[in-house]
Amino acid sequence: MTETPLYGGGSGAEPGPAQKPRKKVRTHHLAELKERGEKWAMLTSYDYMTASIFDEAGVTALLIGDSAANTVYGFDSTLPMELDVMAAMVAAVRRGTTYALVVADMPFGSYEASPEQAFESASKLMKAGAEAVKLEGGAHMAPTIEFLQRRGIPVMAHVGFTPQSVNTLGGNRVQGRGDEASDRIRADAKAVDAAGAFSVVLEMVPSAVAAQVTKEIAIPTIGIGAGNECDGQVLVWQDMSGLNRGRVARFVKRYATIGDDLLAGAQQYVAEVASGEFPGPEHGF
Ligand code: KIV
Repeated sequence: MTETPLYGGGSGAEPGPAQKPRKKVRTHHLAELKERGEKWAMLTSYDYMTASIFDEAGVTALLIGDSAANTVYGFDSTLPMELDVMAAMVAAVRRGTTYALVVADMPFGSYEASPEQAFESASKLMKAGAEAVKLEGGAHMAPTIEFLQRRGIPVMAHVGFTPQSVNTLGGNRVQGRGDEASDRIRADAKAVDAAGAFSVVLEMVPSAVAAQVTKEIAIPTIGIGAGNECDGQVLVWQDMSGLNRGRVARFVKRYATIGDDLLAGAQQYVAEVASGEFPGPEHGF
């Protein structure tokens, strides 16, 4: 019998008999899913416990997003995220993951200067346990995508609204409205495909534009605020689970209310400690 851990306890369950046997997800499997017209889900994860739960739930890819700057560290943009902080989260997520593809975001300032800078940063994330990296940018990042891909680092691109460029994009705005803007998104998606990216995130892009891009390029598209014709979808886990009890973007659907549940649990704990109800005799030695 294994010893009960003092803190935490892993995912808690092996896949039961009702679950389909699963294979470790690799980048080429996403291409196969696109060919077969099967849609799939990606979620962000920044730690071991959520990674093991999402992995068990059948999430195809886990993204250690630089959105952790907002959701974990409380900043108001993703710009302050540091590479070594990302690497520590990547290592934790990888330890909690058996099947899902582990994708790590390249934080702002870690890759834009040159392909060489990008390789140095990406290699740190890969050594920490990432199986692919994600970077923001379309046609102008194509040489970097090709440079990384040729050196053994699969790249997920990210076009449309790119949060690291919030200051040049003029705030959190839908991208690709109007003919010129939608042509730019289509050109960006084609450029990252041609450069060797294995997939591309389309963020806050009109559904019709995302649908067109999804048909036009060979690699899978992953939508966030980009309609339901993308090959995959991604959400930030604190938003979809309701851990975030505040306002969420229009593209978020809440699938749970764990923020409310956690609040109620913490309130009960506080009350039971105050009243002396906890710990009971069964919690003592
Ligand atoms: O950082 C992140 O979580 C992301 C997703 C929202 C796509 O880039």
